[in-house]
Amino acid sequence: MTPHIEAKKEDIAKIVLMPGDPLRCRMIAEKYLTDIKLVNTIRNQYAYTGYYKGKRVTIFSSGMGCPSMGIYSYELFKFYEVEEIIRVGSCGALVEDLKLYDVVVVENSYSLSNYLYELEGGLTRLLPSSEELNSRIYNAAKKMGISYRFGNVHCADAFYNELNSESIVKDFNCLAVEMETFALFSNASTLGKKASAILTVSDHLITHEKTTPEERQNSFNTMIELALESIE
Ligand code: HPA
Repeated sequence: MTPHIEAKKEDIAKIVLMPGDPLRCRMIAEKYLTDIKLVNTIRNQYAYTGYYKGKRVTIFSSGMGCPSMGIYSYELFKFYEVEEIIRVGSCGALVEDLKLYDVVVVENSYSLSNYLYELEGGLTRLLPSSEELNSRIYNAAKKMGISYRFGNVHCADAFYNELNSESIVKDFNCLAVEMETFALFSNASTLGKKASAILTVSDHLITHEKTTPEERQNSFNTMIELALESIE
């Protein structure tokens, strides 16, 4: 038990998938897992532990932004001895050749966030995901016939901003923008754990195309199935 998680230590699996939204968390657990148990309700930040094809997994909602993801992933790694976290969420496309609903597997997270500096004095602005998790994601995608883009994302603190992102895209090769990977990868690197992220494009910052809820749900399912098939 921690200030933000009421689960008993043994109720959290060693492998955790983290969507941002607590209701998505419940939907994933109910649709894909067997023997599910609700293991956290503090702040309605729902978490469920169950089995996917016999493998034990916890689905834990991160909330939005680095501070929220930072708290939950730190406590899971440090106090619940979680070994691997895969973030599953949405992103906004920053390049024209990325289309709505495309799946992006994050290679590096670029951020101006101070999260890593506050955590351990680290000054880098570019943090990598886990090569081991990425190779499992790659193998699962190949088996399932799913294609995805592998590249960098910009992890932003401001969802609404007046700045144009062109220089970020150019200088750091960011395909998309989201708001949680930098805290997750910071915690993994500081605590010696593994973390990666699989995202789907929910909006396009160049073409301004919009998704429908139904289309969003279908592409979300593809991403979740890929994450679940990647766990060992
Ligand atoms: N900005 C930041 N995070 C996001 C976006 C966005 O446009 N879309 C989905 N997550």
